[in-house]
Amino acid sequence: MRLPGSVSELRIEPVEPDGAVEDWRHVHNVIVPPAALSPAEVEENVRRYRLEVAYLDDVLVGCTTVRPPENGDPATVIVRVLPEYRRRGFGAALYTRALAQARELGGADIRTVIWAANEDGVRFAQARGFTEVDREPDPEDGIPFLTWHLTSS
Ligand SMILES: CC(C)(COP(=O)(O)OP(=O)(O)OC[C@H]1O[C@@H](n2cnc3c(N)ncnc32)[C@H](O)[C@@H]1OP(=O)(O)O)[C@@H](O)C(=O)NCCC(=O)NCCS
Repeated sequence: MRLPGSVSELRIEPVEPDGAVEDWRHVHNVIVPPAALSPAEVEENVRRYRLEVAYLDDVLVGCTTVRPPENGDPATVIVRVLPEYRRRGFGAALYTRALAQARELGGADIRTVIWAANEDGVRFAQARGFTEVDREPDPEDGIPFLTWHLTSS
């Protein structure tokens, strides 16, 4: 059975200050509940980072964060796809795009951050050549946030 929606139908849009802030926030908070962001925090991130949202028709499927390199820290690329839309290539398409954006912003070195409970994210990053540089246990539940560095591209 063919699943509805394919990579070629994915519509990816930048989040503008008066735009899809709530859609981006929804995906983020569903996927990373211990780091849930308020509307004000996302508005701040819109100003500082490159955020995008992805849709199939008008159905929200994922979002991305690209943080430019800053104060000696590498650029950060994070891709998120809602669980019901995974394993159809959407994450790979978003990742390719977000990585190119990070490179455009001067990101020679690239990091990602993964909440360790997101096993799909851990596997996805491993398969793309990221390796661990740091882990920080969440003070509430002890599940760590992993900082991984891209060691091959
Ligand atoms: C990481 C994440 C974005 C991947 O999203 P996704 O849409 O499932 O990504 P893809 O479909 O492109 O690839 C996922 C896997 O499915 C496989 N796949 C892709 N199309 C497939 C298909 N049609 N049938 C079966 N498997 C398929 C890919 O080979 C890939 O395997 P891998 O992870 O072992 O490399 C998603 O799991 C997620 O949001 N995780 C939580 C957020 C997170 O931790 N992000 C950090 C990583 S930057």
